[in-house]
Amino acid sequence: MGCVLVCPCQHTHTTDVSGHSEVSDHGLGSVSTSSHGSHAYPYKSSLQEKTTGASIFTMAELSEGTGDFSQSNKIGQGGFGLVYRCKLRDGRTVAIKRAKKDRFEKRLSVEFKTELDMLSQVDHLNLVKLIGYLEAEHEHILVMEYVPNGNLRQHLDGNYGVALDMGTRLDIAIDVAHALTYLHLYADKPIIHRDVKSSNILLTGKFRAKVADFGFSHVGPSTDVGITHVSTQVKGTLGYLDPEYLTTNQLTTKSDVYSFGILLVEIFTGRNPIELKRPSDERVTFRWVYKNFVEGNLIDILDPNIEKTPETLGAMERLAVLSFACSAPSKKDRPSMKKSVEVLWNIRKDYLAKKQANLKLSTTKTASMHCDSFHNTLDSSGHNISTDFSSRTSDAQGSQRHHSSP
Ligand SMILES: Nc1ncnc2c1ncn2[C@@H]1O[C@H](COP(=O)(O)OP(=O)(O)OP(=O)(O)O)[C@@H](O)[C@H]1O
Ligand SMILES: [Mg+2]
Repeated sequence: MGCVLVCPCQHTHTTDVSGHSEVSDHGLGSVSTSSHGSHAYPYKSSLQEKTTGASIFTMAELSEGTGDFSQSNKIGQGGFGLVYRCKLRDGRTVAIKRAKKDRFEKRLSVEFKTELDMLSQVDHLNLVKLIGYLEAEHEHILVMEYVPNGNLRQHLDGNYGVALDMGTRLDIAIDVAHALTYLHLYADKPIIHRDVKSSNILLTGKFRAKVADFGFSHVGPSTDVGITHVSTQVKGTLGYLDPEYLTTNQLTTKSDVYSFGILLVEIFTGRNPIELKRPSDERVTFRWVYKNFVEGNLIDILDPNIEKTPETLGAMERLAVLSFACSAPSKKDRPSMKKSVEVLWNIRKDYLAKKQANLKLSTTKTASMHCDSFHNTLDSSGHNISTDFSSRTSDAQGSQRHHSSP
């Protein structure tokens, strides 16, 4: 595959997204992990040997819960196989991912076990939780927490009708950044997701994001022995792949940061990382955004489904700067996920404050317009208006004072 498509970022800037120096990924403290149950665990974990809380399911229960894997319960399809909604005997609704039988080879088996390892050991609000699994001679099935509101790509594509507003998009970006920070700081060895992309971001009914699909996950190097990367076969999805990882095969947490930068661009443009049907200068979305940004065309790059207001454009401008830093060509110029979370918090805080201020301003303007039209109406009818008009004027001022108070 040519570099033209997979290396959208050819810029050489080293934008400082926050004005602060970057937090190093090395020597970071560990985070506590969840306690696990006592079920026997059939595989030797690549992280550490221990039992997990994952339950082992029977084919009878999963077949029963999906109506014999009926089409009506199918909720998705990926490289690994089909995904179904399943009602367990205890009443819980779960998602199950069933490997395609005919395509099950050694490579997939390794992926299956990797995913199982990762999902069963991590526990975070913004990560899809593994509930259990089934492995028989020709069946490999993961049982996962069911996340009911589709994936981020489907929402950006408008499949769900109502477009995501800027506030929700910022919340989603922060949720994903939290999940990745957690993985990168996991125990003494970081976990690198390796397939951060919008179809792997699942949404709850309240639009909280959960990062799914650890099929390409990989255990990173230990942080305490001075090793900064592991050499590995390149895996991931076109358009999100770190160009440095592609050329060197050296994987670090900064490869996820690169993909996260591409994801941010998706979040504020609504576009896929690669759009082959567009004119040639727009096909690699990151480059198109960077070019427009440098030329000052902010309005053109904001997703047309987001209302164009000073606060949405302001947030988008700062998201763009963060995405340029995250997807910098060289990993040394990329911030850590932890640093990215801090930048995102500030963007959201300022966005909400500006939105609130503009809301107050428009409320005041509306109140004053009401007064004017009321005045005009009564005036043209020739009635004496002084009493009513003054009472409404004082209402408007009262409301303005009320809203202005801290
Ligand atoms: N736990 C879940 N809850 C609800 N829906 C899910 C869940 N897991 C996956 N899905 C749905 O199934 C779809 C397919 O998932 P899958 O991870 O197999 O493939 P993908 O992410 O689209 O592509 P790829 O194989 O390249 O990762 C997802 O995009 C999502 O819409
Ligand atoms: Mg997936």
